[in-house]
Amino acid sequence: KDERIAGIASAIRVIPDFPKPGIMFQDITTLLLDPKAFKDTIDLFVERYKDKNISVVAGIEARGFIFGPPIALAIGAKFVPMRKPKKLPGEVISEEYSLEYGTDKIEMHVGAVQAGERALVVDDLIATGGTLSAAIRLLERVGVEVVECACVIELPELKGRERLGDKPLFVLVS
Ligand code: PRP
Ligand code: MG
Repeated sequence: KDERIAGIASAIRVIPDFPKPGIMFQDITTLLLDPKAFKDTIDLFVERYKDKNISVVAGIEARGFIFGPPIALAIGAKFVPMRKPKKLPGEVISEEYSLEYGTDKIEMHVGAVQAGERALVVDDLIATGGTLSAAIRLLERVGVEVVECACVIELPELKGRERLGDKPLFVLVS
């Protein structure tokens, strides 16, 4: 296994009981403070996706906005923000997903992507998979092919991968 992964894993800080008791929060801000680990993170994704004919990197607010743009620039793809509701100023399409209590939504600008494009969806972390599965549905509704989802961290005990169906998921740290 790539030795860079160990450095990335050790640069992620775990904060117990945030934001609620019992949650072990995976804090990527410490990864961002470590230029070698941050660069290795981006490089590992770029090595995987550079020759895959991806024209769209879709990043999920908020932490997908940190990892998505450097990947997009390096592979020559456009970056499309998938935002929380009522943040984007233009016409949007939106997709709902369920949370532990209630529902949330993500939105994308109409016209940001064209049918037939090939997309990579990027976020910092997959937990239940609700967010990523909504992002996939949103892109597929407008005819975009989602090639893969990429996250820095997976919490495998929450089985988010199952919620993505047969859509491939690539993670660095599990
Ligand atoms: C966190 C994380 C992922 C999502 C994963 O974001 O950054 O986007 O939860 O959870 P899921 O797999 O169960 O859907 P959050 O919604 O807390 O918002 P943020 O990134 O804006 O902080
Ligand atoms: Mg998030």
